[in-house]
Amino acid sequence: MSSTLDAPIARPAAEQAAAPRTPTRRRYLMCPPRHFAVVYAINPWMDPSRPVDQALAVAQWTALKEAYQRLGHTVEVIEPQAGLPDMVFAANSGTVVDGRVLGARFRAAERAAEADHYRRWFLEHSFRDVVMPTKINEGEGDFAWTGRVLLAGSGFRTDPDAHAEAQEVLGVPVVSLRLVDPRYYHLDTALFVLDDRPGRQEIAYYPEAFSPGSREVLRRLFPDAVLASPEDAACLGLNGVSDGRNVVLPVEATGLARQLADRGYQPVMVDISELRKSGGGPKCCTLELRG
Ligand code: ARG
Repeated sequence: MSSTLDAPIARPAAEQAAAPRTPTRRRYLMCPPRHFAVVYAINPWMDPSRPVDQALAVAQWTALKEAYQRLGHTVEVIEPQAGLPDMVFAANSGTVVDGRVLGARFRAAERAAEADHYRRWFLEHSFRDVVMPTKINEGEGDFAWTGRVLLAGSGFRTDPDAHAEAQEVLGVPVVSLRLVDPRYYHLDTALFVLDDRPGRQEIAYYPEAFSPGSREVLRRLFPDAVLASPEDAACLGLNGVSDGRNVVLPVEATGLARQLADRGYQPVMVDISELRKSGGGPKCCTLELRG
């Protein structure tokens, strides 16, 4: 008999493949990149000397938003603020599970003011249960809800103590993971959830972005996970957004798209090259509002 620790939370791949992929309707929060720029560097992708085409960023963001809407999802939009060029990365603004919101607290001073703009949005949009954290946490950048546990990253941005705070505030079990490669500074640059239905949890990740112990944890919990190649990781291919069937990915992540198609998912490719100059992809621009 296997121990509880060894019991995977996902079903065997054979069973998964037989099951039809069912999308579920999602509600997302996004922020148009009208004030997008790369004027400081807080991750290795950002080079302030490299020009950014702000109009192209808006066009790519709009195409991403329209892709969600075509898939039948609801997209809420928050007003961007001048002087907060990274506010487009809505995923960093909080974590919402069952209508409960844990707000963000940013590591970099340059992004600190974003947290309060988003806090006010949540309150104005009838989220009554909004808690602002005492520990640094960059929202869904480092928290991924699998449907059963909250995977939580640390190493570059989110304070490991924020993992316990998230567990207490959201009332969900948290699994701590340590990131070790500065290019994959947020959990959502190295891992994403493909299927969050109870008993069907499936994820994709890039093992090399994690410490040896964290890799082992992921192997135990998700023995049939999709493992991404270095090439697919390097275009931020793991910064995907799945509704359980349709998976929005950066257009360059062709190997990952093939792996997902083989498992019955429908890849939806988007060009997000301008936002990648800041270290962001589709997921970074997207906060899921659950419940
Ligand atoms: N320039 C932003 C930063 O370094 C990018 C954030 C990307 N967001 C994400 N969820 N990974 O903070």
